[in-house]
Amino acid sequence: MKKITLLVALLYLTQNNAQQKTATPTGIVVTKAMVVSAREEASKIGADIMKKGGNAFDAMVGTELALAVAFPFAGNIGGGGFMVYRKANGEVGSLDYREKAPLAATKDMFLDSEGNVIKGKSTETALAIGVPGTIAGVFAVHKKYGTMPIAKILEPVIALAERGVVVTKKQEKSLNDYHDKIVKVNGENSPASKIFKENDTIKYTALAKTLRRIQKKGRNEFYKGETAKILVNYLKSKGGIITMNDLAKYEAKWRKPLQFTYKDLKITSMSPPSSGGICLAQILKMLEPYDLAKMGHNSDEAIQVIVEAERRAYADRSYFLGDPDFVKIPLKELLDENYLRGRMASFNPEKATLSSEIKEGQVNYAESTETTHYSIVDQYGNAIAATTTLNDGYGSKYYCDELGFFLNNEMDDFSAKPGSPNMFGLVGNEANSIAPQKRMLSSMTPTIVEKDGKLFMVVGTPGGSTIITSVLQTILNVYEYNLSMQEAVNAPRFHHQWLPDLITFEPNTFETKTINKLKAKSYLINEKPTPIIGKVDAILVLPEGKLEGGADFRGDDTAVGF
Ligand code: GLY
Repeated sequence: MKKITLLVALLYLTQNNAQQKTATPTGIVVTKAMVVSAREEASKIGADIMKKGGNAFDAMVGTELALAVAFPFAGNIGGGGFMVYRKANGEVGSLDYREKAPLAATKDMFLDSEGNVIKGKSTETALAIGVPGTIAGVFAVHKKYGTMPIAKILEPVIALAERGVVVTKKQEKSLNDYHDKIVKVNGENSPASKIFKENDTIKYTALAKTLRRIQKKGRNEFYKGETAKILVNYLKSKGGIITMNDLAKYEAKWRKPLQFTYKDLKITSMSPPSSGGICLAQILKMLEPYDLAKMGHNSDEAIQVIVEAERRAYADRSYFLGDPDFVKIPLKELLDENYLRGRMASFNPEKATLSSEIKEGQVNYAESTETTHYSIVDQYGNAIAATTTLNDGYGSKYYCDELGFFLNNEMDDFSAKPGSPNMFGLVGNEANSIAPQKRMLSSMTPTIVEKDGKLFMVVGTPGGSTIITSVLQTILNVYEYNLSMQEAVNAPRFHHQWLPDLITFEPNTFETKTINKLKAKSYLINEKPTPIIGKVDAILVLPEGKLEGGADFRGDDTAVGF
């Protein structure tokens, strides 16, 4: 009996200690504290705050707002996001500062008289704008855990807006790509419509003034003060429906994060209204019985089993998930190990399962890919993963000249018409239908990983529905495949989301031989040129306690620390 117990224990250990060695770091390594974000300017502001004695929460406020200045593509005060934290004492929590539907929103607001979705109405009109949550979010974080005066945290952010930010090559391209859409909404004379080239400096004078007022008067300046009045008048003039009452009613919400284990890792991620945590948990739990390390990194065998787990998790996500303040989510059932093992019972290593054979719901919803994530670890051992978004690149493109920022088009993350294909060819669901004050479902997956009871990794990414699969692969790359943090971020990624029934690979990164093997098993491959999958910013705690940054080369992302 004893022998059998020992054998089982040994087998368990072999299976559960996938990563025995630690890869040699290839990213920036620091000893105390680090911020990895989409722009060096924002990472630096966050790191400097910690250098001056501030903690990760102070740095979160500075980094989030600095991204609103330095990375207006997705950084924002006109959008919202989610933050997951782990304090040095192991306590975890999360903040939901996701946008909300205005009070005047209706279930059918994006449909015509015949009940068909009106193309562009949920993305390109002022009705696309949800009530912004970012300012409420950073002030809630500061109130609960901040240690430095907020005015001091905001000072370098405002200085950056006044001094201006130098345009990078990638930013020049993004501004160029979106220029026509921005002009269409704001006209030729808006400061947002100017053409900028690499190395030009963009000064954000109006945004600096707005931030100065917020610095002086606090959170309510945005939700009840002069800024709120200017914003509401602006939106009204554009046909929007957000009122002073909507802004006054907005509150960020502390939520219990989702916690689960994968082998000997303990993972903390965002709970609904983000689908990120649940979906990540379902996929990892479905993968747990398989020896991914033995299959090989990005091998056809590993891709196959990961895709099958993704397919099943995304089917559930689409059917069951929405704002938990409005819909009942069967969380316990969805995360039940027996249920998840049962879901994989139909997996056949010889042949793809068709998505049409996966029956949980007939539904999905659309998300665009433009969001931004940052990871922070401070010198005290606190960690923060935060993902924030305007939804689309530059959100709805509506730019309030007087206030100096873009507004989100997050209303498109709702299902405009439950049960019918939306403008992206995906179908929506009832749990995520529009209702006043409801939060739209998200994929954002700010995640913190512990190993042996200690902080191990902080990770997250933009990428719409590919957020979850990018976070998944980054964790697996380090844990199962022994890549360094930077290598794990750099590694080519793939994605499957149940519908459409296609595997998307990062262009020109996977071997033809691997793809052909999958085709031979009836996997359908997205052959169109596809955008990049995620831009992961992560931090790994090395065995001796140093921090390795993984800053995604796909963007201008940079790790800064000390
Ligand atoms: N708008 C992207 C997301 O929330 O997932």
